[in-house]
Amino acid sequence: MKNLKEYISEAREKGVAIGHFNISNIEGLHAVFNAAKSLGVPVIIGVSEGERDFVGVHEAVALVKAIRAENNDYPVFLNADHTYSLGRVKEAIDVGFDAVIFDGAKLPIDENIQITKQCVEYAREKNLEVLVEGELGYIGQSSKLLSEIPKGVELTSVEDAKKFVGETGVDLFAPAVGNIHGMLKDMPEPRLNIERIKEITEATNVPLVLHGASGNTKEDIQAAIKAGIVIVHINTEVRVAYRDALRKSLADNPDEVAPYKLNKPDVEAMEKVVKEKLRIFNFI
Ligand code: G3H
Ligand code: ZN
Repeated sequence: MKNLKEYISEAREKGVAIGHFNISNIEGLHAVFNAAKSLGVPVIIGVSEGERDFVGVHEAVALVKAIRAENNDYPVFLNADHTYSLGRVKEAIDVGFDAVIFDGAKLPIDENIQITKQCVEYAREKNLEVLVEGELGYIGQSSKLLSEIPKGVELTSVEDAKKFVGETGVDLFAPAVGNIHGMLKDMPEPRLNIERIKEITEATNVPLVLHGASGNTKEDIQAAIKAGIVIVHINTEVRVAYRDALRKSLADNPDEVAPYKLNKPDVEAMEKVVKEKLRIFNFI
């Protein structure tokens, strides 16, 4: 089986992006996997610190390994999304995640560089296949419905991006390019800065990751991929599909008590969203 790094290089060559979808439960895992398998594309499952505490750190690894094994080594990978300490980065590497993100976006750049570098060193020492992603530029922190753009959102400068990638040695880099975590409830999402993505791609020459893509248009996302984005993260839109479908299922079936029956519509609703996004990321 090819590793995640090889799938990322392949995506880069093809000019497509790999979808990264967060999950909080087995319903989400099945939805993401079913969608990817139906299109025959690789996919990344993400669990943030909160999500992985709910699922269980070891359980998340075991579930993804089980799905791979049952499906002929299907390319489904596991990422420790938004990790805020070196200790939790080490934990994810030690238990067998394929990739990990140290999120120092709120820290001063030098502190962010220093801790990210320690994460890279630890990864290289423990497992040469595990990928480390760094983040620079604040884009908000929660995958939720928003009434306004989070305070403190900024754009990553080309100079800072170059310094960060050069000094840390990260495998993947997540810049702030007009993207925000979460999705605005009553207004369109801000436009992505495609020019800045191109400039950062040229200056850093590492695969770029677009976080916070819920609510962004197909046109913006595809232009971002053409400009150098190789992984796209979606969470809020999948959460909304889950919440709406489950709410309806509970309302429509007031006497039903079997979770596996009540949750069937939410798996289908999440799968539909993931499939639509994967079509966009893969230009199909
Ligand atoms: O890491 C997770 C993502 O960046 C999700 O962002 O909730 O705006 O889709 P989103
Ligand atoms: Zn994110």
